[in-house]
Amino acid sequence: MSQLLLSLAICTFAAASSIDRRAVVTRYNPVRTNTSPDTPLQIGNGNFAFSAGIDGLQTFQPWSIMSTWGWKNDTLPPNRTLDDVLAYKGESWWNHDKLVQYNFNGVGDLQQWLISNPNRVNLGRVGLTFFDAKGAPVSVTAADIQNATQTLDLFTGIVSSTFSILGQPVAVRTSVHQTAGAVGVTVTSPLLVRRQLAVFLDFPWNDGSSKFSAPFVGSFASTNWTLHRTTLQRVTSISAEIVHSFNSLANTTFYTSVHGSAFKLSRAEGHQFLLRPTLPLPSFAVSVAFSLQPQSPPAVPLPPAVEASSRSGWANFWEKSGFVDVVTGSTDSRAEELQRRIILSRYLMRVNNAGDIPEQESGLVNNGWYGKFHLEMFYWHSAHWLLWSNDDFVRSSSPYARFLSSSIARAQVQQPWTAGARWGKMSDPSGRSAPGQINELLIWQQPHPLIFAEYMWRSTPTHAVLQEWRDVVFETAQWMADFAWWNETTGVFDLGPPMYPVSEDTPPNSTINTAFELSYWRIGLDMATRWMERLGETPPAKWSQVAANLAPLPTSNGLYAVYEGIEDTFWTDPAFINDHPALAGLFGWLPATPKLDISIATRTTEKVWTSWNLTSCWGWDFPLLAMSAARIGQPDRAVDWLLHPLFQFDDAGMPLGGTRVPTPYFPGSGALLTAIAFMAKGWDDGPQTNAPGFPAVGWNVRTEGIRMAL
Ligand SMILES: *[C@@H]1O[C@H](CO)[C@@H](O)[C@H](O)[C@H]1NC(C)=O
Ligand SMILES: *[C@@H]1O[C@H](CO)[C@@H](O)[C@H](O)[C@H]1NC(C)=O
Ligand SMILES: *[C@@H]1O[C@H](CO)[C@@H](O)[C@H](O)[C@H]1NC(C)=O
Ligand SMILES: *[C@@H]1O[C@H](CO)[C@@H](O)[C@H](O)[C@H]1NC(C)=O
Ligand SMILES: *[C@@H]1O[C@H](CO)[C@@H](O)[C@H](O)[C@H]1NC(C)=O
Ligand SMILES: *[C@@H]1O[C@H](CO)[C@@H](O)[C@H](O)[C@H]1NC(C)=O
Ligand SMILES: *[C@@H]1O[C@H](CO)[C@@H](O)[C@H](O)[C@H]1NC(C)=O
Ligand SMILES: *[C@@H]1O[C@H](CO)[C@@H](O)[C@H](O)[C@H]1NC(C)=O
Repeated sequence: MSQLLLSLAICTFAAASSIDRRAVVTRYNPVRTNTSPDTPLQIGNGNFAFSAGIDGLQTFQPWSIMSTWGWKNDTLPPNRTLDDVLAYKGESWWNHDKLVQYNFNGVGDLQQWLISNPNRVNLGRVGLTFFDAKGAPVSVTAADIQNATQTLDLFTGIVSSTFSILGQPVAVRTSVHQTAGAVGVTVTSPLLVRRQLAVFLDFPWNDGSSKFSAPFVGSFASTNWTLHRTTLQRVTSISAEIVHSFNSLANTTFYTSVHGSAFKLSRAEGHQFLLRPTLPLPSFAVSVAFSLQPQSPPAVPLPPAVEASSRSGWANFWEKSGFVDVVTGSTDSRAEELQRRIILSRYLMRVNNAGDIPEQESGLVNNGWYGKFHLEMFYWHSAHWLLWSNDDFVRSSSPYARFLSSSIARAQVQQPWTAGARWGKMSDPSGRSAPGQINELLIWQQPHPLIFAEYMWRSTPTHAVLQEWRDVVFETAQWMADFAWWNETTGVFDLGPPMYPVSEDTPPNSTINTAFELSYWRIGLDMATRWMERLGETPPAKWSQVAANLAPLPTSNGLYAVYEGIEDTFWTDPAFINDHPALAGLFGWLPATPKLDISIATRTTEKVWTSWNLTSCWGWDFPLLAMSAARIGQPDRAVDWLLHPLFQFDDAGMPLGGTRVPTPYFPGSGALLTAIAFMAKGWDDGPQTNAPGFPAVGWNVRTEGIRMAL
């Protein structure tokens, strides 16, 4: 018996280590031979990322260096004080029988300042400067280089770039430290021996004057010293510090420390500095480290240490997390591209969405919505981590414990009759939600923490986890129960009005009982109830009363409808079929509830597939559609949705934004990984077969460390 158990254990172990992960990962190493006008090759650690052009640096294109901690406030609007801004008040709207003061339609300049501040800073730029044989600077563009080849090794996080310029070869290696905001750069070229090559650093101005800054962030031409200042200090023969201060509300300052081969650092023009190697050696290596506090520049890890950190950090990530191999042994021609998307999405989410705060939709590549993040999007950005055994990334970035007290305060100010925590939407690192009609009236971010808690519990079913999430679960559910409004006429609890559903395109004053949100409310309140029971606490009776008596899901012509009272013609009305197709999420993304009629849900899903305006869909809509197909038993279709022509990932795996938003749009990557785990490992109540979301023929799907979805 024990012999049998032992051999079973050995078998399990052997099976668990059977995917040659390194081979699968490196098969998709991006290789470039030309500049991309749209996306960089990126290296980073979740809190800090360096975006590289074809040279491995930022010589020819001003790609960004961005972080989770680099933020600043612009100066206040003319003739305004901070008190004016903090006293901003919006408009009062009726919420049933109560007037609610929402944060929108207030005084324009104050409102705009609150929307665009704080905004995220582009920390700097690192590139190469060339000189002619006589030592005069040569102005170069990407057109002046030949034979460029560049590889991003996904398994080590190292970019190796080679090219020729001025008739000589140049090789550049770039990597990012896994626990510090430091990029390591090693340049090798005969041009160094001839003293024709130096490294430059530059510091841009950027502010909240535009909602999107893509593909590049900030202005390098701004030499206006009233706006920002740079100073050089603590210079030694191998290290130095540059201080960059923005003339902002609080004069925000960032520090850049350089450490490496012997160099002389001098100001070039504007906010640009030149590092000229002291010795005519064929190789020059420096680390450039960015921080909010002064560092000791000589203590900054040298390029070999940065590289070693990158190697071990990435090996650890690839070896210790969940893994899905759909390509080895598959004959379906779609498997190759799907695997490429999986690997590159895993890499890019680790670089961009695994830091200390939730990430903006364009991650650390460029700025969207001024660099702020959206709490409804935290689901797509982070739920996949829990399905792929990367719980730590949710622990570090989770906004829920951090924003709990401010979310309770928000509920009390906005809807004094409600208890609990009202989660905000477009947020800054302090949790303040920006003014705006959608920002105030969207509600589908509210149940998210309950799903996160539930997945945490499924991975670690301990009392400690129950306690850790207890207050978040409790306060979230309290608000949900109180937001549901008892309608005496109909004898049910209504959601809204006013509100916005997932598709942000319905009239808020008449949007009531949206199908998706009703189902999500039921699922969430049931989960919260079970959470309290697991803790041995009595859940408030109202939670189960509300869950049991929420309005029925609205229907029209035998199908589910977006909201109660919507015109029957909505399926052909451009006003309602051009935004997120959440109706297909009722049975797919979301599990069934006891109130869901699965045959209606299935027909509704198929109707969405044929009637929604797919040319208007973008990003996570396609993984959402894939999960709907998988759950209704059409796995072939599920795969097709993940490879839909309007759901594109470029050669570096960057998810294209499409017509609505700039590239990259990372909710598409997170949702893809959610759908892959769902299809590969299955879901509660799903078919008990391997990879139930993949077709039975043509696919060999292997998973390691992937968890079953709800
Ligand atoms: C921006 O200003 C607000 C209001 O004073 C403050 O709470 C916040 O911490 C500031 N953020 C930064 C990054 O300076
Ligand atoms: C600011 O106040 C000054 C002095 O009252 C006035 O001249 C100026 O027009 C005001 N500027 C704006 C933008 O309101
Ligand atoms: C919603 O109703 C409020 C009054 O409660 C009104 O001021 C506002 O204009 C209405 N909004 C829309 C979009 O109709
Ligand atoms: C580019 O590569 C080709 C083929 O390897 C070689 O013949 C040529 O000399 C290279 N050009 C430069 C400028 O290095
Ligand atoms: C520099 O920026 C300040 C603040 O925006 C502005 O008032 C000033 O006119 C600018 N100076 C120049 C020379 O552009
Ligand atoms: C910001 O720095 C400028 C220039 O050094 C100075 O004139 C100004 O008073 C400072 N403002 C604050 C808020 O510290
Ligand atoms: C009660 O529900 C009905 C049907 O949804 C709706 O028309 C009515 O406005 C609701 N009553 C109130 C006071 O909101
Ligand atoms: C469908 O979406 C496309 C792209 O956004 C748009 O141009 C077109 O007008 C939409 N069609 C309808 C019927 O809404």
